[in-house]
Amino acid sequence: MKQNLIGKILAHTARVCVVGLGYVGLPFAVEAAKAGFTVVGVDRKQSRVDMVNRGKNYISDVKETELKEAVDKDLISAVTSFEEAGDPDILVIAVPTPLTQNLTPDLQYVENVTRKFVNHVRPGQLISLESTTYPGTSEEIIKPILESSGYLVGRDFFLAHSPERVDPGNRQFSTKNTNKIVGGVGPDSLEVALAFYSQTIEHVVPVSSAKAAELVKVYENTFRAVNIALVNELALLCDRLDLNVWEVLDAAFTKPFGIMAFYPGPGVGGHCIPLDPHYLEWKAKEVNFNTHFIALAGEINRQMPEYVRQRVWRTLNILGIAPSRSKILVMGVAYKKNIDDCRESPALKIIELLISDGIDVSYHDPYVNALQYNKLDMKSVPCTKEVISHQDLVIILTDHSDIDYDFLVQHAKHVLDTRNVTRKVTSNRERITLL
Ligand SMILES: NC(=O)c1ccc[n+]([C@@H]2O[C@H](COP(=O)([O-])OP(=O)(O)OC[C@H]3O[C@@H](n4cnc5c(N)ncnc54)[C@H](O)[C@@H]3O)[C@@H](O)[C@H]2O)c1
Repeated sequence: MKQNLIGKILAHTARVCVVGLGYVGLPFAVEAAKAGFTVVGVDRKQSRVDMVNRGKNYISDVKETELKEAVDKDLISAVTSFEEAGDPDILVIAVPTPLTQNLTPDLQYVENVTRKFVNHVRPGQLISLESTTYPGTSEEIIKPILESSGYLVGRDFFLAHSPERVDPGNRQFSTKNTNKIVGGVGPDSLEVALAFYSQTIEHVVPVSSAKAAELVKVYENTFRAVNIALVNELALLCDRLDLNVWEVLDAAFTKPFGIMAFYPGPGVGGHCIPLDPHYLEWKAKEVNFNTHFIALAGEINRQMPEYVRQRVWRTLNILGIAPSRSKILVMGVAYKKNIDDCRESPALKIIELLISDGIDVSYHDPYVNALQYNKLDMKSVPCTKEVISHQDLVIILTDHSDIDYDFLVQHAKHVLDTRNVTRKVTSNRERITLL
């Protein structure tokens, strides 16, 4: 069974099914197709399925030419259900893993997909979870559901966890050249998963279990969340000490060892940093353990939008403008630079707060034409001299690269820069207030 599947993988005749064609699933599907596998994608969104089948891209990290080539060669197609997906040898699960309102894991997408796949489980398959989750998910949640088919992991089919580490917008590291962690539910599952991922990813890193692989990923995101919280806290302290946090950090990061650059900002966003550490926090409670750093980091990072609001009020006050009669332009609503992803973006919260203060808020984001969130329904305004000069204040929330910051400062009455992206602007610096 195992050798047969490994043989198919090495010959690239194994049929791959990727469920969830989003930021993680679509880039991986394209990589697998480029490696020579025939890939069928399953996504419940008909619009995404239609676009894939037309070779049209909607994920910024995917090259449309590569997707189109794979579609034209019949190496990639997409459908909305497993019933139409043929009989895959390998299933890669890349569906969302959000949090509930109470910051506990919401595994409904992973569980739904696994339940739907039970009728399609057969001997000689590999099922690999790529969604980020707490340690134990593959063994405790996925394995029992799949084994309800009557087939057993290790004996009949293989089960692994290989967390995706994609960093949207990163031009140096993509799905292919980012080291990939692989852990199996048992040694045979590891062997099969290693064989598969080695065909598509440049460097694969085995760990002893799926559970360890799950922890690797949530630890990585916790590391970022905690370090961002640390510099955010430093920014709050520097404000009280009347020190420039950016100067302090730039000097600190000249140390050639023992330190790593993290910068403060308006809060954390995206589908990873604000969410994943809470998966670990929840799991730790099950074993009567408190992850203090995660709780503290979440608390600090979540208060940053409120702090930005306070800084807006203070800045307007210094300028002698009543907030409720002010006009503000927000520059950037994506959660990080040079991408279009607004999930969990602190800009959403900040805009809501400012609107609730009676402020007339508009936004410009070259990557996000329209914004719909809770009651927000806004369109990006152009970044022209007329628009900028009519604002009482411009707040930079995302440090997109393709904005002319000299032009912005030249025409703005005042700029509140939460990212220090105006660091190279030399004229009119008196108009800039830094976080
Ligand atoms: N976005 C990132 O930067 C990133 C990085 C590393 C890991 N991850 C993790 O990868 C996982 C996926 O994240 P993403 O950003 O790709 O999400 P996404 O929202 O971009 O894509 C998920 C896709 O799954 C589809 N889907 C949901 N339920 C489905 C179902 N039952 N059947 C078929 N399709 C279904 C959705 O329609 C969507 O297209 C998450 O666990 C996330 O934490 C994300």
